[in-house]
Formats: sequence, C-alpha cells, structure tokens
Amino acid sequence: MKKKLIIANWKLNGNKSCIFNFLNLLNTYHDQKKDKLCKIVIAFPVIYLYLAQQFFLKKNIFLGAQNVDFNLQGAFTGEISVNMLKDMGVSYVILGHSERRRYHKESDNIIAKKFKIIKEANLIPILCIGENKEEKESGKTQEVCIRQLQAIISMLGPHIFNNTIIAYEPIWAIGSGDTAQPHLIQKIHRCIKSYLKKYRMIDPEKILVQYGGSVDENNVSVLLNERDIDGVLVGGASLNYKKFIKIIDIVNQL
Ligand code: 13P
Repeated sequence: MKKKLIIANWKLNGNKSCIFNFLNLLNTYHDQKKDKLCKIVIAFPVIYLYLAQQFFLKKNIFLGAQNVDFNLQGAFTGEISVNMLKDMGVSYVILGHSERRRYHKESDNIIAKKFKIIKEANLIPILCIGENKEEKESGKTQEVCIRQLQAIISMLGPHIFNNTIIAYEPIWAIGSGDTAQPHLIQKIHRCIKSYLKKYRMIDPEKILVQYGGSVDENNVSVLLNERDIDGVLVGGASLNYKKFIKIIDIVNQL
C-alpha cells in the first residue's frame, strides 16, 4: 500500500504569530514521532513560507505553495515564479483549485501552462479537479473530472502525469461540512486512475489521488479506509493545531 499523504491548504488565513506558534508545536510533535510520521505537505500563504523553511529543513514535512505564475520572470506585477518557490524550499504546488478557477477565472489553458512550468522545475503539482453541485445532481461528476484531466493531457501529453498528485475536490463539499460519501469518492478515484491507466505512458504507481472537501478528524479514518483514496487535502481543519494533529495521529495509525 502507498504511504498516505496529508496536505494542508491554509488558503487566505493566518498571521505571523499564529503560524510561528503552529510551526513550533508541529516541530515538537515531529521530533517525538520522527520516522513514524506520515508524509505531510503544508501550504501556508506564500509570504510565510520563509518561517516554515527554517523549521522543516531535512524533516518529513514538506512545503507547498497555493499558486504559481506560468512565467519565469519579467514584468508580471504581483506574481511568484517556480524558481522563487524553490528558493524558499517549496516542493509541491497546488493548482486548478476551484477557488482559483472561479475567483481568478483560471481556465484549463492557464492551468495546463502552470502544470508545465511546475513539472519543468521538478516540483510536484497537486492538480485539483471536481464537479459543482449542479453537475453532481445531473450525474456529470465523472465526465467533469475526465474533462479536466483531458484538458491537461491534450496540451502536454499523458506522460506529464507521472509523479503528480490529483486532488478530487467536489466544489459543493469544500467548506460546507458536507463530505462526499466515501464509497462514492472511491468510485471517482477508481475512475480517475482507470482513465489515466489507459495511457501506457502513465505509471499509476507514480500518481496519488487525494480527496478534499470538509475533511476533519472525525471523517478522515473512514475516508482513508477506501482503497483508492491515497490521502487527503485539508482546508479549514488544518488551521486548528489540535484538529490537525488528530488527523495526523489517525493517519499514522492506519
Ligand atoms: P475544506 O477542508 O475547508 O473543505 O477545504 C478543502 C479545500 O478546498 C482544500 O484545498
């Protein structure tokens, strides 16, 4: 069985003192567990990554970014490049999140460009896909997920998915407290893996499929008991140190 992965997405939350406090506590927890700790990726707001970099050097906790630009440098005010992220010790980058698709009008084309630059920099993309409520109710979940994957494949070729992470995040489940049912998530994850397996250039062993959407300490165990849920992408519950540690403890015991 692949080792389960926990990814924390802090979104637009936190400040210097609360992140510093969180890092101190997590660092102590890490030193108690050491090698017994499951793999963890934390995506703080980018401005605070320098704080985390100092803590987790050479440890089993990795840094993620919530976004990146598809340009490498130049006159692109306000943007951050893959090389800047690498400079700050980042190894994973979230992209295609429904919040960016919606509020920042990120199209499949923009997401594919970001995917390419992330892979070229040897960083690991965490590609978010998932359906909205209407699409779910009209039975289009699988169709939407496949379309979002296909958009990347048609621009970059199937091989691009090796060593990547896909996060299935139904939009209606994000921040709603309403998690998708584990057996239905399992079905979608299986469908994503089978779809990618069709391409001979993709090694399914080199892809993780995470679930995100109202994951917390009460549901993580049932979710991760499903065969094809390789880990979780946690939003709200990752902001609270106690809840987050409970999630990690549960995953460690699986
Ligand atoms: P919540 O866990 O708050 O539902 O957020 C999920 C998410 O969007 C993670 O990227």
